[in-house]
Amino acid sequence: MNLVVLEKNQIDEVVASLFIDTINNKPNCVLGLATGSSPVGIYKNLVKAYQEKKVSFKDVTTFNLDEYIGLEETHHQSYRYFMNDNLFNHIDIDKNKTHVPNGTNYEYDVENYDKEIEANGGIDLQILGIGSNGHIAFNEPGTPFDSLTHVVDLKESTIKDNSRFFNSIDEVPKKSITMGLTSIIRAKKIVIIITGENKKEVLARLLTGKISEDLPASILHNHPDVTIYADYKAMGK
Ligand code: F6R
Repeated sequence: MNLVVLEKNQIDEVVASLFIDTINNKPNCVLGLATGSSPVGIYKNLVKAYQEKKVSFKDVTTFNLDEYIGLEETHHQSYRYFMNDNLFNHIDIDKNKTHVPNGTNYEYDVENYDKEIEANGGIDLQILGIGSNGHIAFNEPGTPFDSLTHVVDLKESTIKDNSRFFNSIDEVPKKSITMGLTSIIRAKKIVIIITGENKKEVLARLLTGKISEDLPASILHNHPDVTIYADYKAMGK
């Protein structure tokens, strides 16, 4: 696992460049995308690069990690809405090639999401954030490493972390559909963004190198091509 430490705005630029190079080298590549605050600056840079004609997304396919169960795609806190709003509406991607697990008709995706990823040739580049409890996607501590796309009950800590996006904590959905840990590590290349002081503890735990289902992100130590992009705040500097 590689570690790159930069200022947050530099991470946004460097990781966006990695995406742009990936797309320019393989215009029909498959990208694994995340929501949350971690990738927002990266998506802004991708929109800018598209506007400056440095990249085209017209042949790109995307698969998002997860979605809340019970939220319609039009709900402002659904991850489909987030992706449209932060990225897809501003670039030339074919929306039919963008996949976000379906939060209302989720049974179909539980059965088929991993198969669809494989049918598209697998994910070339996956971006991840991390929860303060070490979750990646919505794989909470204790999730089996061999998990594929599945439905989860969210932990209290995750509901609390995410309540800042809702009017009240009671509005935060209690379940989600998520790619599993094995689904994620099938990606050919993975970058994980770990920034801000509130990620200091979890980054330190990850950097011990101990691999345990108590820290879902620690499965990444088993993958040959993972880079952590951390900022100085998360490094405690
Ligand atoms: C989002 C996702 C989550 C977030 C994580 C960190 O699709 O899968 O695992 O990456 O909760 O969230 P932020 O980036 O908001 O700190």
